[in-house]
Amino acid sequence: MEKTVGEQTVGIALLGTGVVGRGVIDILAQQRDLLRSRTGLTIEVRSRVCRDPSKYEDDETGIKATTNIADAIGDPKTGIVVEVMGGIDAPRHAISAALAAGKHVVTANKALLAAHGAELFELAKKHGVSIAFEASCGGGIPIIDALTRGLVANRIDALIGIINGTCNFILTQMAQNGWTYADALKEAQRIGFAEADPTMDVSGRDSAQKLAILATLAFNQQVSETDIALTGIDTLKAEDLQFVDDLGYVIKLLGIGERVEGQLALRVHPTLVHKGDLMSDVSGGFNAISVYGHAIGHQFFYGRGAGQTPTASAVVADILGVAMGTIPHAFERLNVFHGRLKKARALPADQMESRFYLRATTQDTPGVLAGMTQALARHGISIAAVHQPEIAAGTKHVPIVVTTHKASEGAMQKALAEIDAMKSVQAPTVFLRILERPAEFG
Ligand SMILES: NC(=O)c1ccc[n+]([C@@H]2O[C@H](COP(=O)([O-])OP(=O)(O)OC[C@H]3O[C@@H](n4cnc5c(N)ncnc54)[C@H](OP(=O)(O)O)[C@@H]3O)[C@@H](O)[C@H]2O)c1
Repeated sequence: MEKTVGEQTVGIALLGTGVVGRGVIDILAQQRDLLRSRTGLTIEVRSRVCRDPSKYEDDETGIKATTNIADAIGDPKTGIVVEVMGGIDAPRHAISAALAAGKHVVTANKALLAAHGAELFELAKKHGVSIAFEASCGGGIPIIDALTRGLVANRIDALIGIINGTCNFILTQMAQNGWTYADALKEAQRIGFAEADPTMDVSGRDSAQKLAILATLAFNQQVSETDIALTGIDTLKAEDLQFVDDLGYVIKLLGIGERVEGQLALRVHPTLVHKGDLMSDVSGGFNAISVYGHAIGHQFFYGRGAGQTPTASAVVADILGVAMGTIPHAFERLNVFHGRLKKARALPADQMESRFYLRATTQDTPGVLAGMTQALARHGISIAAVHQPEIAAGTKHVPIVVTTHKASEGAMQKALAEIDAMKSVQAPTVFLRILERPAEFG
């Protein structure tokens, strides 16, 4: 394929023919006429790579499956290599080989980009080809296109997202059905929403990898996963979802990137979102991303963050964008994501500020609340509200729920250490952050 296209038929090599790969094959087959009428192009799947071709011998696509990655990439009629295998080492090797062979690459692999994006983007530049990665963040939501094209006129001041559908599904089940984390996870696994090993999702790492990609594009600084302060959802207690509900909130796992006085505050954590906020209605496997641009104000992107056809929709859009030349052109012009971007100046976690929700487990004795408020006051933290649910007489441990005004993580950690050292406090105090949206034209 010419590097900036023009011909009618474009050959692709599909590395991976699982959930997403099969979705790509189906869209290209079923919407062949629509795509041709919109773009003048026919996309031909010239090869289809997997680990075990016997699984695909009798499928109705009629496209032979192979294990030979080198032949698929080397095919002279293949101009675009589409990596939808997942993993790190095999796709890193395959993409490097494709770029070195002068082939454009489309990938859905956020884990790979988070770990080796800078190296691969540099390699693409070196060989005069491009890498498209719309499906790596937010599934079918065209957020990469928005950040690199639609919102290009804006200085982005903040980006806030629900970017992991598995966690959002689990949190929704916990909130709506009163389930424990363990039960909600089991259900997510039963219906195929969570993997057998859910660690990447529930630890928040998947969200951090996506935030690293989005923040790099949004803030024009090289953000790594390690720049991001991380807390997962795996220690959340059902009772906190109940308490926050009473206070008018839901809990969402948010990825947040914000400019704070020349630095970037980057974090992923379970967050209280007020029920009046758009994010609070993002349920189940859906994703949503708020972007704050200096010119556009607040923009809200919402849609399916994963799944076969939504993800394949983004991959096919990338294939066509590459084939039409728009993505290679943008890739060439925009200084996104390669070695020349400055490393992000990440704000240390203890300096990040939030409002907080605290739940202490205490003995039902006088003076406990006073002790907590004094500990908070010693570190300059002021209380917004206190809530002590009525409990049955004779109950040994009672919860005290406190919400605070804005404070730094560092101050809160010191206050918590003092609270937990109180004799009457029976278990480590639970603390969660509360979402405060930035000013729209900040
Ligand atoms: N599924 C989603 O909703 C979704 C959403 C956004 C992004 N993504 C990303 O899309 C990528 C693919 O996900 P998926 O859900 O489609 O995965 P999947 O269903 O597990 O499919 C993976 C495919 O790649 C093949 N494969 C894996 N390792 C290989 C290797 N070393 N050599 C050759 N073939 C190999 C597999 O072969 P076999 O068929 O022989 O096993 C299979 O066909 C991942 O990076 C994922 O993070 C997925």
